Amino acid sequence: MTPLSESEISLAASVVQRDGGLDPGAWFETIAPDESQGRNPESRRAYVCCYEPCNNRTFAGVVDLGQASLVKWDHLEGVQARIVPDEFDMACKLAREHPEFIQALKDRGVDDPSRVLIESWSAGNFGSEEEQSKRIAYGHCWLMNDANDNPYARPIANLHPVFDLATREILRIEDYGAVPVAPDPGPIIRDDQRTDVRKIDITQSDGPSFTVDGYKVQWQNWQVDVGYSVREGLILYNIGYQDKDRLRPIMHRASMAEMVIPYGDPRHANFRRNAFDVGEYGVGASFDSLALGCDCLGHIYYFDVWSHDWHGKPKLIKNAVCMHEEDFGILWKYSNPKKGQSTVTRSRRLVISSIATIGNYVYGFFWYFYQDGTIGVEVKATGIPFPSGIAEGEESPYGIKVAPGVESHVHQHVFGYRFDMAVDGDRNTVAEVNFEAAPMDSHNPYGNAIVTRETILSSESEARRNMDIGSSRYWKVINPNMTNARGTATGYKLVPGANALPFQHPDSPVGKRAGFMYHHLWATQYQADELYPAGWFPNQHEGGDGLPKWVQANRPLDNEDIVVWYTLNYHHLPRPEDWPVQPVVYAGFHWMPVGFFDENPAMDVPRTR
Ligand code: NI
Repeated sequence: MTPLSESEISLAASVVQRDGGLDPGAWFETIAPDESQGRNPESRRAYVCCYEPCNNRTFAGVVDLGQASLVKWDHLEGVQARIVPDEFDMACKLAREHPEFIQALKDRGVDDPSRVLIESWSAGNFGSEEEQSKRIAYGHCWLMNDANDNPYARPIANLHPVFDLATREILRIEDYGAVPVAPDPGPIIRDDQRTDVRKIDITQSDGPSFTVDGYKVQWQNWQVDVGYSVREGLILYNIGYQDKDRLRPIMHRASMAEMVIPYGDPRHANFRRNAFDVGEYGVGASFDSLALGCDCLGHIYYFDVWSHDWHGKPKLIKNAVCMHEEDFGILWKYSNPKKGQSTVTRSRRLVISSIATIGNYVYGFFWYFYQDGTIGVEVKATGIPFPSGIAEGEESPYGIKVAPGVESHVHQHVFGYRFDMAVDGDRNTVAEVNFEAAPMDSHNPYGNAIVTRETILSSESEARRNMDIGSSRYWKVINPNMTNARGTATGYKLVPGANALPFQHPDSPVGKRAGFMYHHLWATQYQADELYPAGWFPNQHEGGDGLPKWVQANRPLDNEDIVVWYTLNYHHLPRPEDWPVQPVVYAGFHWMPVGFFDENPAMDVPRTR
């Protein structure tokens, strides 16, 4: 689905301002392509979500862009819109001017509030009365370094302004005791740089091997459409493979649909730290404008996208999506020592990526397409691990000390990926494959037999699964109506990489709000409005929404129109080496063809001479 243009965002905002019946102080949480009409919408529409501070009410609906009219517009009872960047700025300003907050800073030896960064995180929902009736945010505070290039350099411990974001006031200052602020660690950007790094030039004298038409991309038999929303960021649509004379669909839609970062420190207000960066803040709204030669190297094609501010005013993010080709080592090699011959083809991959800066952290969302039909999914995480202040001589039971006066707590980055599958058509089936050692008996006298067990996950309740290294488990999505030359169903397998399980209790507040994280794999029957694994409105939600709720219907999955969800969990106890800026860490997984093709589809890739 094509991203909204500048004029479409303006039009959608003006239609809602004209016909939505909202207070003039209402602001826009989301203006994005509407997907409620399903995969082939009849008309161009925008989904719009608004928040009305004076009544603490959230509204959402659909604007028909051709007709310039409201198709649907509802007050949504008991939900909170996402926290938008403009609210962050507003809350930061409120705190800097608050006398009690200024005094608390003085108690810590901080005289200049303008040098203090205050981030207003969602309060979550821990059962207090104010969380049910108000729009609450908890502030976390840092003193910037002298070089002014690290706003998170000096954590201000135990100090939390508590905001009502609706009434735009500070409800109270929670102060759990002054701790001296860490010494200035110096600048991030340093002058003493090594001098032995020689230049690498990536040149493509014939130009790139891809073609682009608007947001449609073709490359090495692959077809994919690039999409975007302020909430999810990068979305890929209509992923297909041109197999000789047939364009074969694989996925209708693929995205990183939610992420939650639960932290492991229970003390003071720190138990509230669990960011839902998609559902609470919107990852697409935080996309960087990428820079050639820095974020991306080689012959780059950039897609610009239009985000918006809380007035509904379009905001251009230049170079928001980067696309380029990479040499990826050897694709396949065949050696014939008898003839003294060796044949090598080199692998090329198409990279489509975006980078979001969300507060202290920087996330790269990378998608790779390979010439052998594999799709790679990867997150690159860098930036500054969430720093908290700690007193000299105090132990750090829930984290480590990364610098004098600075600790960083153990946490997880849990990414909820959604794949609307279409392997050779809409009707698919999910199977789980496990391997086991056969018993030692007369059939297996030497104990070497490996048995493959394939089980159809035929309903939503059966399709809640976790990884198992003991059985080398993987999952595959097959089309039972199509066969390859071997006579088996065509399919793609989901190959997990490194992963983890949550440590938050399932009945904890964050466990209930992020119920999706308790399984690596979920599968559901396709529903146009089931897009986000923690539900549409996780901000201050009491929990239970999203995947855990939807699968209670226990819909059949065998030879049905299905969506596969994969949970990728990166478990992170920061290291001293993650300070002051963390080197990129990688987490990811693959989709590989399994019987989708009749043989290696890369036999026609030219030999390297
Ligand atoms: Ni981390």
